[in-house]
Order: sequence, then structure tokens, then C-alpha cells
Amino acid sequence: MSQVTFDFHGSHVIITGGARGIGAGIGALFAASGAAVAVWDRDPDAFRGDWEPAALIRADVTDEASLQAAFAETLELFGSVDIVVSSAGITGPVAPLWEYGADDWRRVVDLDLTGAFLTAKTVVPHLRERGYGRVITVASIAGKEATASLSAYTAAKHGVVGMTKVLARELISDGVTVNAIAPVMVRTELFAQLTDEFIERTRALIPLGRFLTVEEVAATVAWIASDQCGFTTGATFDLSGGRADY
Ligand SMILES: NC(=O)c1ccc[n+]([C@@H]2O[C@H](COP(=O)([O-])OP(=O)(O)OC[C@H]3O[C@@H](n4cnc5c(N)ncnc54)[C@H](O)[C@@H]3O)[C@@H](O)[C@H]2O)c1
Repeated sequence: MSQVTFDFHGSHVIITGGARGIGAGIGALFAASGAAVAVWDRDPDAFRGDWEPAALIRADVTDEASLQAAFAETLELFGSVDIVVSSAGITGPVAPLWEYGADDWRRVVDLDLTGAFLTAKTVVPHLRERGYGRVITVASIAGKEATASLSAYTAAKHGVVGMTKVLARELISDGVTVNAIAPVMVRTELFAQLTDEFIERTRALIPLGRFLTVEEVAATVAWIASDQCGFTTGATFDLSGGRADY
């Protein structure tokens, strides 16, 4: 893929789960485009990017106090924030619903759905005050369609899409857009949580016949975050290789 170029000089970005995988890939493009990026991650010491975040902050998206502290630290450094990307997430175990542990279910929903809620709740008052912002949630194809053996993940990601729609409507007069992305599978360390059979079965559902790349996700997120993408809010951007043709 040719190099995508965006201009984010002067922009301040927060990415949860940005220490590795999709979040780190999104951060790399923002940083290469001139933005100052604060990575909020439960495990910042495991940062894998080959780029330099302006801040690497330990934060747990399931813990409101931890997010408040990360936000205070970020504001101290940046003065203001323009763009928030919620990428922290897990798939949880691969099992049919009737074998799914209730604790596993709660853990997945707490991180993937409540984590996105708490992240937005932490930053949105600041964006409203400034009259400008971009909130981008990383949902999944599982936020649009059933993914057998991942009931908690599918429920949580459908919830993320719903929350994104509501927040977009609530912020309609505040200059803040709120959009989700719905990627299919991207080869990251998240694959370690899945079985080979699950990965192969899910890959076979992608009409384009290959996995999505981190770079393709980053380019879409950068477009949504750009000033040019000002008329779309409450949407879920498809990254499904033709799987979800709606
Ligand atoms: N990889 C895929 O195939 C795929 C497809 C669709 C959607 N997604 C979504 O993309 C997002 C990122 O996935 P990934 O593939 O990069 O996963 P990953 O496992 O590579 O990275 C997840 C990151 O989130 C961090 N994290 C986990 N729990 C956290 C917490 N409580 N607080 C803060 N940070 C936390 C981890 O430390 C890690 O850096 C997830 O929301 C996932 O559901 C992934």
C-alpha cells in the first residue's frame, strides 16, 4: 500500500490499548502525521511500536479513577485533547454460550463495552467545552453480525456500536463527532486468545480472502479523525473485506 498522508500537526490524540496491535498501528500513523499521541494502556511496558508516543501512561479502562488520573496527566502535558480512540479490548474465551463462564462474560463486557463507555465519559466533557472533538470506538464485525463462539465479545461490540450512536446524537450540537469502526480479523497478539479452527473459519467468511492489515485500519481511523470527515457521526465504518455489505 502506498504511504497515506494526513496532517495532524497540532493535534493531541489519546489511544487506549495503544501499546500494541491495532492501537499501536493507529498511533504510528497519527505520530507520523504530526500529532502528539498519548498511549493509555494497562501494560505500557509492553509497548511494541517503532514510533515515539508523546506519553505512555498506565491506565486500566475498566477503572474510572485510573482513567481520570491518566486524563489529568495527559492534559498537564498537552493542555488539550482533540481525538480519542478506544482500542483496548479482548475477545475472551472461544466457547458456545451455554459453556461460557459468567465471570468470563462479565470480564469481556466490562473491558470491551464498559471500558469504551468510561473512556468516553472521561474525555467528552473536555471536548464539549472546547466545541471540537473526534471520538472513535474500535468495535468489530462482531458489532454488526453474529460471531459464533464469541457471545460476550459479540454482545459487547454490538453495545459499543449502540453507545456510539447514542453519544453521537447527544453531542450533535457540540462539534464532536462519534464514530465506530467494524474491522474483521487483523493478525495481532489478540489471535493468541483464539483457536486455529476459529481463525480459519472466520477468515473464510471474508470475501476479499485475506486478513485486514493494521495499516488499513489506521488509514480509516485517520480519515474519520480528520477535519474533512465532519459530516458523518454515529456511523460504523465497515472494514470487513466485503463481508458486511450494508
Ligand atoms: N485483531 C483483530 O482481529 C480485531 C478485529 C476486530 C476488532 N478488534 C478490536 O481491536 C481492538 C484492539 O485489538 P488488538 O488486535 O490490537 O489486540 P491486542 O491484544 O494486540 O492489543 C490490545 C491492547 O489493549 C491493552 N489492554 C487490554 N486490557 C486493557 C485494559 N483493561 N485497559 C487498558 N488497556 C488494555 C493491551 O495491553 C494491549 O496493548 C480490540 O478492541 C479488539 O476487539 C480486533
